[in-house]
Amino acid sequence: MASPQIRLAVIGGDGIGPEVVAEALKVLKAVGLPLQETSYDLGAHRWHRTGETLPDSVLEEIRGHDALLLGAVGDPSVPSGVLERGLLLRLRFELDHYVNLRPVRLYPGVGTPLAAVRPESVNMVVVREGTEGLYAGTGGVLRQGTPAEIATQESINTAFGVSRVVKYAFDLAAQRSRQHLTLVHKTNVLTYAGDLWQRTVDQAAKEHPGVSVEYCHVDAACMFLVTQPERFDVIVTDNLFGDILTDLGAAVAGGIGLAASGNINPDRTAPSMFEPVHGSAPDIAGRQKADPTAAILSAAMLCEHLGFAAEAAKIEQQRAGYRRAAEGRPYGRDPVGRDALRAPGFRRRGREDRAGSRRRPGGTPGRLGGPVDRGDRRRHRGASSPGLAGARVSLVRKANPYGGGIRVCLVPGQPWQRRTTMTFDVRVSDAPLAADERERILAAPGFGEVFTDHMITIRWDDDRGWHDARLEPYGPFTLDPATSVFHYAQEIFEGLKAYRTSAGDIVAFRPQANAARFNRSAARMAMPELPAEVFLEAIELLVGQDRAWVPTAPEHSLYLRPFMIATQRGLGVNRPSRAYLFAIIASPAASYFRDGIHPVTVWLSEEYTRAAPGGTGEAKCGGNYAASFAGQQQAVQHGCDQVVWLDAREHHWVEEMGGMNLFFVYGSGPDARLVTPALTGTLLPGVTRDTLLKLGPDLGVPAVEEPISVTQWRDGCASGELTEVFACGTAAVITPVGRVKGPAGEWAVGDGKPGPVTMRLRDELLGIQYGHRPDPYGWVHKIC
Ligand code: IPM
Ligand code: MN
Repeated sequence: MASPQIRLAVIGGDGIGPEVVAEALKVLKAVGLPLQETSYDLGAHRWHRTGETLPDSVLEEIRGHDALLLGAVGDPSVPSGVLERGLLLRLRFELDHYVNLRPVRLYPGVGTPLAAVRPESVNMVVVREGTEGLYAGTGGVLRQGTPAEIATQESINTAFGVSRVVKYAFDLAAQRSRQHLTLVHKTNVLTYAGDLWQRTVDQAAKEHPGVSVEYCHVDAACMFLVTQPERFDVIVTDNLFGDILTDLGAAVAGGIGLAASGNINPDRTAPSMFEPVHGSAPDIAGRQKADPTAAILSAAMLCEHLGFAAEAAKIEQQRAGYRRAAEGRPYGRDPVGRDALRAPGFRRRGREDRAGSRRRPGGTPGRLGGPVDRGDRRRHRGASSPGLAGARVSLVRKANPYGGGIRVCLVPGQPWQRRTTMTFDVRVSDAPLAADERERILAAPGFGEVFTDHMITIRWDDDRGWHDARLEPYGPFTLDPATSVFHYAQEIFEGLKAYRTSAGDIVAFRPQANAARFNRSAARMAMPELPAEVFLEAIELLVGQDRAWVPTAPEHSLYLRPFMIATQRGLGVNRPSRAYLFAIIASPAASYFRDGIHPVTVWLSEEYTRAAPGGTGEAKCGGNYAASFAGQQQAVQHGCDQVVWLDAREHHWVEEMGGMNLFFVYGSGPDARLVTPALTGTLLPGVTRDTLLKLGPDLGVPAVEEPISVTQWRDGCASGELTEVFACGTAAVITPVGRVKGPAGEWAVGDGKPGPVTMRLRDELLGIQYGHRPDPYGWVHKIC
């Protein structure tokens, strides 16, 4: 039995059109498409012969087909516009091709004029409106040829026309892995049309919560297409903007000779038409110079449209992947390229090329991407602002903060910038933990064991600065084993909490202080600094999204862990990584002391030191913690709960307890005063430490920062002058110290019980954090 035939109307058209269409037809046949073609002689020849562009009878015949394949239209011998309007645009309008679909994709091995662009950064589809806008042909001329000539050309935008193309674009975005859509327009000038487009997109966004949406002015979009092509996934835009943008896109993706398109009638009330984006290139016509790739890839789109997905994939893979890197195609030649008619694998040389499925050598799996190794052009210290400067944008459109969409964070810019922004791509998990499960966890969350549904990630590299900010479902990272953090421990972190106050608000405590310390740690570890605004925005976004995870039980909280790791791949050890990942994860935390406050016994470590002058002691880097475990283990072996670190030179001066700062209380009652070791560069400048240095005096307990030795500690306890000792930090808040042990002996602090000053400070601090005490310093930062 004969297989069903595909009725294909073929219009070679002008210039190189017939040549490239002939190649595309060979390919369609080679993949076994059951074609029944009818060729139509339309274009310059026909017009010269008969004066016709597209006779009605031919149009009616064409309607009876399943699809059209078109080469190119236009010839210098025909007045401009005659064939374009009379043939090409007429087909688009009459056959209601309201979606002009133009993929912009850089295939591996294809040269691009952009030196810094990688293939994976250029993978977008432009959904260009095809039946309206300035192409509608509305306008006219008066007093033509006189000095008083008036010419008008109007852009037609109908709610019907805009909404159908926008719907198509959203449906397409929803099927793609990034699920991101950018409306490109010029709403700041074309206010009537722009407003209709914007409102239509806003409305559609509500119906497609999984798709994140961005707006970009067309001029800025041109810039980003060159500077940050990875920004785009699906672009939906007006007819003329789409025309211009896709020529630029074609150039970025290796040249117009490779750019395919489909004029789609999604409702299938008439055949769709597939054509290369390039023109007729009459100068090279008939000379076997034209590259048929664009026509062939358009034929692949035709297969896809007609339901021959496997054939489409085969053509795309073999045609697009046939250039090996060594053959890297030079760009910027004549319109359709000179190295034309190179065979796709199955056509002439019979070689099935593997390039389409090859991994870039040295490429990194997972979306963290490969190394950015393009020479040490720029040091990144202090480069965070220049990096963000790349994001100086005229786009600001936000979405429901707790649905999908985008969230834009303003960042103070350089003097020459009005503002910079960081756009968070919000991807809400479609599999959050069930509410009853979550409640079960929140009843007894422990510490740092369970994590919420989402996390924040932001990437940095020395070309783009901070980019690709996301709120996304919590999940593992895939990292190459040679990623530098695994080897050289370039890692820093922070710890802070979100609290549910007695008024029902969710707040963070002094998050700006954490942002500032994070950047001091970054500077010490030769890592890029993250603008504090972005740090705060990220916290607000995550806590807002996962607000149901903020526990309600007294003294429970949501512990937030911002951190940054070096992600460059490679073992070179002479310079810092050129790529980083910043992330924030969140974990519900119980009150540290479940059944009352228990003072700890501490071990004075003389064998190990935590930090030395000039080292990393005051940075919150993972390495400091790695180095402390042995000391902590030794403390436990000596029957203690915690290790106390002494100075590296003399093992005499008290520095810290585990990961916490220490306070000493001298005297009691109205004579009580606080002493905490001074920040010598080897101690972590704790946020809680800083807070207590202010709160103490407010409560009538003067506080000083000065060195305190082991001898002073022991003698002070012996004489009764030193009445209380406690440690403080974000996680455990305040922990009393009851006993001290060291190689040289053992003693008790006071009566070994939590002291009154310790408990008073603790109450005050928790009172401010949970909102039942006044907050005179504005430390409490409301999130939602
Ligand atoms: C294209 C072309 C056409 C257009 C011309 C030839 C009418 O430039 O397909 O991009 O402007 O749409
Ligand atoms: Mn064009």
